[in-house]
Amino acid sequence: MIIAKKISKQIQLANQSVEILHETTIAAEAGEFLSIIGPSGSGKTTLLNCLSGLVKPSTGEVYIDGQCIQKLSARKLAQLRRTSISTIFQSYNLLPALNVYDNVVLPLRLNHQRASKVAITELLQKLNFKADLNQVPSQLSGGEQQKVAVARALMMHARIIFADEPTGALDSLSRQVIFGQLRALSQQGVCVIMVTHDIEQAAQTDRALILSDGCIVNEVKQPSVEQLFTQMDRLRG
Ligand SMILES: Nc1ncnc2c1ncn2[C@@H]1O[C@H](COP(=O)(O)OP(=O)(O)OP(=O)(O)O)[C@@H](O)[C@H]1O
Ligand SMILES: [Mg+2]
Repeated sequence: MIIAKKISKQIQLANQSVEILHETTIAAEAGEFLSIIGPSGSGKTTLLNCLSGLVKPSTGEVYIDGQCIQKLSARKLAQLRRTSISTIFQSYNLLPALNVYDNVVLPLRLNHQRASKVAITELLQKLNFKADLNQVPSQLSGGEQQKVAVARALMMHARIIFADEPTGALDSLSRQVIFGQLRALSQQGVCVIMVTHDIEQAAQTDRALILSDGCIVNEVKQPSVEQLFTQMDRLRG
């Protein structure tokens, strides 16, 4: 469903070019739940953004359903992103002027899909959201904002979900609830690619990719907590 072939990303800092992602190759199938772990600054968000078409890699190609997304027109890429891909952003990316309900409903409206207030309320309740749907993001705690960002992504019923630290700001009960939702979606055939710092969560995914300094240094199928801690300890040296 998703294939990335040797994608690299260089950025220009002052007078020098810095490579923040180096020749990364990944394949993920429908129904697969992949996790990406690695130290802060190792390039996890950059990788996710390249896979989702938000950022263009400097070299290499990303294929979604056999289509090279770099070759799509801006309009076609936007359409693919709107209809097939949902992203839970590390920094939530909620619209500050919109209340909770309007934030969650926005991608559906952009897609000319009908929105059911009952379905949105039920989903937020399922995600353990405790605040008011009429509040704006600045009136919510970080954790409640994160649940709104998760709800907005899940309401889309996309075939591919990119989740960048989707439970980073949450208490352990909410973490489990949201992880459970992502797990259930992958069992229904959704391809889920999740960045996490939570080794215990990563150990419950189908495959963990370990990223260090912009390179995938290892890949563990059906990982155990011990295996992943060992991998991370090695990186800390
Ligand atoms: N647009 C940019 N301009 C300058 N530097 C950038 C940019 N995007 C990423 N970087 C740098 O590239 C490196 C990788 O960033 P990235 O956000 O992908 O890391 P990360 O693994 O997601 O980190 P974290 O765990 O803190 O979220 C970092 O050193 C970051 O500062
Ligand atoms: Mg990040």
